[in-house]
Amino acid sequence: MKIRLCWVLVVLLLLLSGGLAYKFIIQGSVGAASDGRIAIYLEQSERDLVLKEMRTFLLSVQQITVGLNRDNLQQVAQAARQVGTAAAGGVPGSLTGKLPIDFKRLGMDTHGKFDQMALDAKDIGDKGLVMEQLSELMENCVACHDIYRFELEPAR
Ligand code: HEC
Repeated sequence: MKIRLCWVLVVLLLLLSGGLAYKFIIQGSVGAASDGRIAIYLEQSERDLVLKEMRTFLLSVQQITVGLNRDNLQQVAQAARQVGTAAAGGVPGSLTGKLPIDFKRLGMDTHGKFDQMALDAKDIGDKGLVMEQLSELMENCVACHDIYRFELEPAR
């Protein structure tokens, strides 16, 4: 009898941890937005943080185009490095848990593509390649904005 109770507890705990893992790693804190996109619910400070990161993305893209216009691939490399994978390190775990897995994937892929651009701009120094990389990378910006938006967590 005791052993059976143990198994029941084990199964319940497995289901619970599986459910939590699903919620925090895969699903995130999401709902339906009024415009057909997926709403990601964040606290005010979390939303401020990700939107700030977004504005840094935009600034870097602008600086990359300036570098291209001036044939200055050092400037391109520097602007791209600013939004590389290293820049993603400051996101707190509580916030990561609210982001759906596809959002995290697209986000990390974008940072990775900026890293690659920084390396190639410095080592290969080919403007045409940078432009190709920029237009491909910006497909991620467009795709993610098409799917998601940020909303404040509903008051509980
Ligand atoms: C992984 C998803 C994702 C990627 C990739 C992404 N964004 Fe965003 N971005 C968002 C979401 C979600 C919002 C909020 C949109 C909303 O609430 O309507 C946003 C908002 C923004 C904003 C508005 C900032 C503000 O202060 O309101 C800018 C600018 C922006 N993104 C630029 C970019 C650029 C440039 C790129 C590509 C280099 C990019 N984003 C890539 C998800 C993403």
